[in-house]
This record gives sequence, structure tokens and C-alpha cells, in this order.
Amino acid sequence: MRTSQGLAIVTGGAGFIGAAMSSRLADTFDRVIAFDNLHPQIHPDHRPSDGFDPRVEVFEADITDATAWDRLLRDAKPDVVIHLAAETGTGQSLTESTRHTMVNVVGTSTMLDALTRNDAVPQRIVLASSRAVYGEGAWRYTTGPQAGDVYYPGPRPTSMFEAKQWDFPGAEPLAMNAALVQPRPASVYGVTKLAQEDLLRIWGDAFRVEIGIVRLQNVYGPGQTPSNPYTGIMSLFCRVAHNGEQISVYEDGEVRRDFIIIDDVALAILRMVQVDDCPTVPIDIGSGSFQTVGAAAELIASLYGAPAPQITGQWRHGDVRHAWADPEPARRLLGFSAEVGVDEGFRRLASWVDTQTSYL
Ligand SMILES: NC(=O)c1ccc[n+]([C@@H]2O[C@H](COP(=O)([O-])OP(=O)(O)OC[C@H]3O[C@@H](n4cnc5c(N)ncnc54)[C@H](O)[C@@H]3O)[C@@H](O)[C@H]2O)c1
Repeated sequence: MRTSQGLAIVTGGAGFIGAAMSSRLADTFDRVIAFDNLHPQIHPDHRPSDGFDPRVEVFEADITDATAWDRLLRDAKPDVVIHLAAETGTGQSLTESTRHTMVNVVGTSTMLDALTRNDAVPQRIVLASSRAVYGEGAWRYTTGPQAGDVYYPGPRPTSMFEAKQWDFPGAEPLAMNAALVQPRPASVYGVTKLAQEDLLRIWGDAFRVEIGIVRLQNVYGPGQTPSNPYTGIMSLFCRVAHNGEQISVYEDGEVRRDFIIIDDVALAILRMVQVDDCPTVPIDIGSGSFQTVGAAAELIASLYGAPAPQITGQWRHGDVRHAWADPEPARRLLGFSAEVGVDEGFRRLASWVDTQTSYL
């Protein structure tokens, strides 16, 4: 593992994941700059997210603003860039695709152009990508003449949702593993995250910059803006249960997700920053297991003594049925395994949500 020093620029560094990494980064680098526009949907009080270390400097600007990049990079030449800034609403990205594409795709290309234009090409860029690049992912037939074959069912059509046929019949889903499963996004957000990966890979190859990509599963924990209705399902469930209300769960409650606590994610990204041999394939980051959303909702309801969750049969375009990471590549290539299970993790989240009185 490298002992880092020099300058790290963290785009989106004032957000949920950036704030959770900030102390570790400030301990690791001589100087850390968070390039962040303090987006009002994430920062309604115009302050960095909880846990942000004051040793990290905030450079308040939009990543799509080329002149802002020039202003920063004229004197600040980064050794490492950690690229976190993004529009992250999966559902929202369908109706606000321009905003998502502008920030996630054009924001990334604006950053890359600025790095070359200002002779500020770093040694390594680490991207926080997403499980959303897989869409519905790969499934394997369990019955019939094709039993055992792996296939890509693609996005679930509206007719399937309307028939409440939630799973692809006669098949089982596979764990997400970038070395084995091809990306096939099923949301605009997923398309933009895959575009970020491709832009970085091609640019990094040309300029001999190491590109480390982590594909994160569902991150939760203290610091995730409870006021943002578009992300953070666990914070939302806590808020509802805290108020003694019934949590509503989509589809049949059997949707699988891999919930990983923020502390583990911060550690995994730092490993990607510091590992000697930067992996050339994206690495999937998850908790090592999955929960059904119904079971997760029950756990949260029971923590608060709230009524049992209601399974609503509602659905949303862009939601995928099952998602969880194969933990093996992260263990082998980054020496990373998640340490906190959901029982302990949800308890930590609930204690924090309870302190967020202005949102409850
Ligand atoms: N949290 C998750 O569950 C999760 C899962 C998969 C991937 N990711 C990825 O991790 C990264 C960080 O996510 P997060 O959970 O910390 O999100 P977040 O919304 O808390 O943080 C994003 C930060 O980026 C900033 N930002 C947004 N648009 C910007 C712009 N145009 N210019 C400058 N700054 C801008 C925001 O102000 C915010 O501080 C994102 O790229 C996201 O796609 C997150």
C-alpha cells in the first residue's frame, strides 16, 4: 500500500461520501481540496455534510465550469483526483436527464480537458461509479433447454410491472462482478455513470494516468442527507419509522439490495487511492451479502417500534429487481472486506437520523 502525500482534489468532496473520507484524506495527504458547488438539494443549509474535516479546503464551484477549473489548477497540481461529484437521483434522472448528463458526463469531460490544458495531469484518478451501470444485470436460466445459460434480460418492460411479474421467470439473478457481468444500464443515471467510466478509461490510457473505478452498491449511514427525497432509501425509512408511521415497500418486498455502511465505503475508496497495483477493471464494492428491501424495512420498523411495513405493489421505472456485489475481487485486489453488518449499521444510522430534528 502506498503512503500518499502531495495534493488530492476531491470533486463532490463536501457530500456524503466525501465528508466521510475527509479525515482519512487529511491524515494521508499534505493538502486536500474539495471541489464542490454545495448543491442545494444536498446542502440546504449551504454547509458540507456531517463529518466534514475542516482541514479540507472547500473550493466552491461547479465541475462543468471550465474557468473555475482553470482558476484552481493554475497553481494546484493534484497527485490524485477522487471524482465523486454527480447528480445521483436514479428516478429523477428520467425526467431531468439533461441535468444528470450535463453534470456527470460533461462535468467529467470538462475536468479532464482542464487537467490537460493546465498541465495538471495526476498520477491516479479514482471514480465512484455505481451498480446502476449493470441495470438488471446477468441472470441464469434454471429450467428448460437453456438451463445453466447466462443471459441479459434487459430492463423490465411496463407490461411485466403491470402484471406484477417482478422476477424474470425460470431464471435466477447473479452477483455483480465487473470481470464477469457486462454493464447494461437501465436508467439515465446508470448511462451517465458508465459514460464517466469510459471517458476516464480512454483518457487515462492516452495520458498514462491510472484509473481506479469502484462500483458502489447502496451506501447508507450517518451523514446521508435525510432531506433529499431522491436518494438514500434507508434514511427515508428511518425518518418514516421515527415518526411512528408505516414504511411503504415497493413491488413484493423481495427486491434484493446490498446495503453497505458509509465507513466501509470510505475505507474501500481509500484503498483504491493507495493500492500499489491500481486494478485495471472496475471493482464492485458491497457488504458481502444482500437483504430484501422488505426485510430491511422490517428491521428499521422494529428498531423504532413502528408498525410493520406495508408491501404496496407499486413500482418505478429504472428500479432494478436485484443487486448485490461479489465481494471476492475487492478482497483480492484491494484487500477490502466490509466490516459492519446491517444490524449494527442500521442502528448507527437510526441514532444519527434521530438527531436530525429539522428534517423529522
Ligand atoms: N451514495 C450511494 O449510495 C452511491 C452509490 C453508488 C455510487 N455513488 C456515487 O458516489 C458519488 C458520491 O455520492 P454521494 O452519496 O456522496 O452523493 P452526494 O450527493 O452526497 O454528494 C455529491 C456531492 O457532489 C456535489 N455536486 C453535485 N453536483 C455538482 C456540480 N455540478 N459541481 C460540483 N459539485 C457538485 C454535491 O454538492 C455533493 O456535495 C457519486 O458520484 C455517486 O454517483 C453513490
